[in-house]
Amino acid sequence: MTSIAVQPISTDSESASTLTVEPLSGYTGAEIGGVDLADDLSEEVIARIRQALLTWKVVFFRDQSIGHAEQIAFARRFGKLTPAHPYEENPPEGFPEILPIDSRRYTNLYGRKRTSYDNSWHTDVTALVNPPAFSILRADILPPYGGDTAWTNLVAAYENLPDRLRDFVDTLDAEHTFDNRAASGSARAAVVDSKPLRTFHPVVRVHPETGERALFVSPGFTRKAQNLRGLGPRLSSHLLEALWEEATRTEYTVRFRWRPGSVAFWDNRATSHLAIPDAGHLGHDRVLYRVTIEGDVPRGVDGRESESLEGDPFLGS
Ligand code: SIN
Repeated sequence: MTSIAVQPISTDSESASTLTVEPLSGYTGAEIGGVDLADDLSEEVIARIRQALLTWKVVFFRDQSIGHAEQIAFARRFGKLTPAHPYEENPPEGFPEILPIDSRRYTNLYGRKRTSYDNSWHTDVTALVNPPAFSILRADILPPYGGDTAWTNLVAAYENLPDRLRDFVDTLDAEHTFDNRAASGSARAAVVDSKPLRTFHPVVRVHPETGERALFVSPGFTRKAQNLRGLGPRLSSHLLEALWEEATRTEYTVRFRWRPGSVAFWDNRATSHLAIPDAGHLGHDRVLYRVTIEGDVPRGVDGRESESLEGDPFLGS
């Protein structure tokens, strides 16, 4: 088994001295303390948060009193912000970057109460040729129990595959499509149908900052096409099932219990996540707000780039 190096976070200046990083599981997730995201954070604090994120793939902050403007300002320290989502037409007024993940919207959109827009393991919007690099999600209204989110570390999943399987999957490309699950006849369904998104991504992606290799497949965006280039539908579907299972093995995951004011910040180039679908039937509301930071076009281990089949790059400002 390969292990992941943990970089100790040293504190060498006054401004960063209160920052703490507490790992939450063996491979994935750390809680960062001693930081108020409403502050104008120093470059050093931002660098330490980025380092913790690259190491632990998802980091969490508790008890933050921030609104849309502060969430956007914090996110901008890490790159350009994209619009809320390629298909979001109704972001909060004045905040086109904010995607409400709001159970109160989903009854209309999907025809039944649910607590998030997708209840399968996925990496954000990988149907795009340049999926977002990072996502930052802030909790506002939560059910009294249930509605947690889990993340998995796709680098650990890749590194722990047998050598010969790694060599083989390094060569594969998978088709990622945006699966239209909006209620048929709804305005959202029409928009998704009129602007399809479809991309071939390398199954193994080289992280542009760490150089690590990640098993870049998850059911959310690859289950519709079930297409590994050149392998045919039957082999594609069997092999994808096996890779999804490897990617989401419990030991690579962390599960986060939200509280109002909790913030999760994850690296989409190294993780997938799952909004655990255990609360929709309870009937409580669940409202969180997400922003995404522009990503690059993924590259495979031999340097080949993802190939867009339909849809434009998703650019930020
Ligand atoms: C997301 O997939 O970005 C949202 C996850 C959640 O609702 O917990």
